[in-house]
Amino acid sequence: MSADDANRPTDDTSLDTASLRSGPPIDPEEAAIGCRNITKTFGSVTAVDDVELGVQPGEWLSIVGPNGAGKTTLLNILNGFYEPDSGGDVYLDGENVTDTPEYYRARAGLGRTFQGLELFEEEDVIENVMTIRSVTERPNLLSALLFYGAGRRTEAENMRRVEEILDYLELWEYRHATISGLPLGVRRRVDLARSLALEPDVLLLDEAMSGLTFDEKYDMIRFLTDLHEQEDLTLVMIEHDLEVVTAVSDRMVVMQEGGVLARGPPDAVTDDPEVARVYTGVD
Ligand SMILES: Nc1ncnc2c1ncn2[C@@H]1O[C@H](COP(=O)(O)OP(=O)(O)OP(=O)(O)O)[C@@H](O)[C@H]1O
Ligand SMILES: [Mg+2]
Repeated sequence: MSADDANRPTDDTSLDTASLRSGPPIDPEEAAIGCRNITKTFGSVTAVDDVELGVQPGEWLSIVGPNGAGKTTLLNILNGFYEPDSGGDVYLDGENVTDTPEYYRARAGLGRTFQGLELFEEEDVIENVMTIRSVTERPNLLSALLFYGAGRRTEAENMRRVEEILDYLELWEYRHATISGLPLGVRRRVDLARSLALEPDVLLLDEAMSGLTFDEKYDMIRFLTDLHEQEDLTLVMIEHDLEVVTAVSDRMVVMQEGGVLARGPPDAVTDDPEVARVYTGVD
């Protein structure tokens, strides 16, 4: 922080660094999504180390940090893909969902995208998105048989909703294209479409812009900004590009070695000398 910065009046973007590293400002139990005492070890590796987090409804929170900092593992715990080590809790809209499976949280309004894209490569775009809706609409074979008529109507409704999503994300022209032949920017957008198919209130994004060209990144930011502003979607976004993070986020969290190094408004956090040291390796 420069001498000029030190003299700036105190406001949201000029918090002192000690307060940035202090406790979380948002109670996880009152958050759109939150967690407390979350630790996850894999053998001798502590991937996530006693993390507490609370994301306000309608907030856009970014998680940054070096490779291996524990960002994806934390997301996997929030959405139920991993169980945390004992003693930790995850909350979704005030409900303790720690012991619930991934599909329960998905139906309760928690969506996610994947760092490594988990699309059905040999299926087309519309099938990839439709699968998500069909699977969740019919929890088991019995209900599919009992409610056959209703199921058929649901199928038509599902298709209508999927078509709306494809149109919204400007994927309509690709609807019959096989995934394996599509450029990365379109594939990442299909992954976003799949996450929207469940009509989430909270969306977890794991490097949704990784590997994209400038134009593809611009498009992704445009869609996310629209979803955030128009649909009031709460976003939790893992992202390496600090310029993007600073431009779009309400708040950011810096992870390092499994723990939270800093949190707060992006301008204040990126001014933190400790954060700069982690990113540049120099004081
Ligand atoms: N399933 C697993 N089994 C064993 N170790 C794992 C597993 N998942 C993650 N790890 C380890 O946990 C640590 C955190 O990994 P994680 O993928 O959460 O980091 P990240 O912050 O997402 O990194 P990146 O920016 O490279 O995506 C790493 O040391 C990683 O090797
Ligand atoms: Mg990761």
